[in-house]
Amino acid sequence: MPGKRVSIIGAGNVGATAAYYIAEKVMADIVMVDVAEGVTRAKAIDFLHAGPMRGYDVSIEGTGDYAAIADSDLVVVTAGVARKPGMDRMDLLRVNAGIVKSASKMIARYAPNATVIVVSNPLDVMCHVVHRTTGFAVQRVIGMAGVLDSTRFRYFVAERLGCAFTDVHAMVLGGHGDQMVPMPRFTTVAGIPVSRFLDAEELERLVDRTRKGGAEIVAHLKTGSAYYAPAASVAEMAEAILTDRRTLAPCAVFLRGEYGIENLFIGVPVILGKNGVERIVELELEPHELERLRRSAEAVKKGVEELETFFTVR
Ligand code: 2OP
Repeated sequence: MPGKRVSIIGAGNVGATAAYYIAEKVMADIVMVDVAEGVTRAKAIDFLHAGPMRGYDVSIEGTGDYAAIADSDLVVVTAGVARKPGMDRMDLLRVNAGIVKSASKMIARYAPNATVIVVSNPLDVMCHVVHRTTGFAVQRVIGMAGVLDSTRFRYFVAERLGCAFTDVHAMVLGGHGDQMVPMPRFTTVAGIPVSRFLDAEELERLVDRTRKGGAEIVAHLKTGSAYYAPAASVAEMAEAILTDRRTLAPCAVFLRGEYGIENLFIGVPVILGKNGVERIVELELEPHELERLRRSAEAVKKGVEELETFFTVR
């Protein structure tokens, strides 16, 4: 989208890879902001060198100065620390709340009209931090998790069936934690319900693998967490918003009674478009699915309650 501007806060593995995918996919101008200014600048210059071959023709700036994010249409928040083996995403809450709060203040100051995609963990709780600190309308604060968890579930199903990855469509709801809710009933292979190909027991195994998908990578990587699939998920969402595509995707959004959940950011299907969340899609869930979603919401709520014990906007 020539003329569009995307800023990425945090130019670590997720942020830098997201910048690259967005440049290739959407052709937006990109600003990366990171405290490690030299490294960020180097990454930006290196990206530009690849442009003639990779076919993007945009400006990419790497800087330590938040003033550069002025007039952004979209800001992606990846700043914060990633988990290490044995850690739960919630273990990052205190340290990342501080980092995400500082970033949010700068976003409110320099890019007051932007839509924000939140990536830092624990994801659903960090959406609360961004929302409260920026004061942005809830439609413009959107957490990236459901798209990532869904692509993992899609891949696991495709791998098991030996079919084309892109033929599998799936939906993962709930918080971005061990209680996330992959939805086999909303999973299809080229439009055919997945239950036609896999029995309940096998599906539950893939559901479980999806829940542990992030941890599987952390266990191998040891020094951090996944970044290719998270960055690709950010690029999908960025494209939907910047091109007003009205894509239906599961995202962490603020619920006000939908699915029986009040005042909580959590993953549900939404329509993404130029205004951010254009609409929350309420699906009729079966009792056992609703029960899983409620349990996941309880886990997120606990995180938000912990946040309340120390968080102030000032
Ligand atoms: C993941 O699931 C980092 O939370 C992210 O890999």
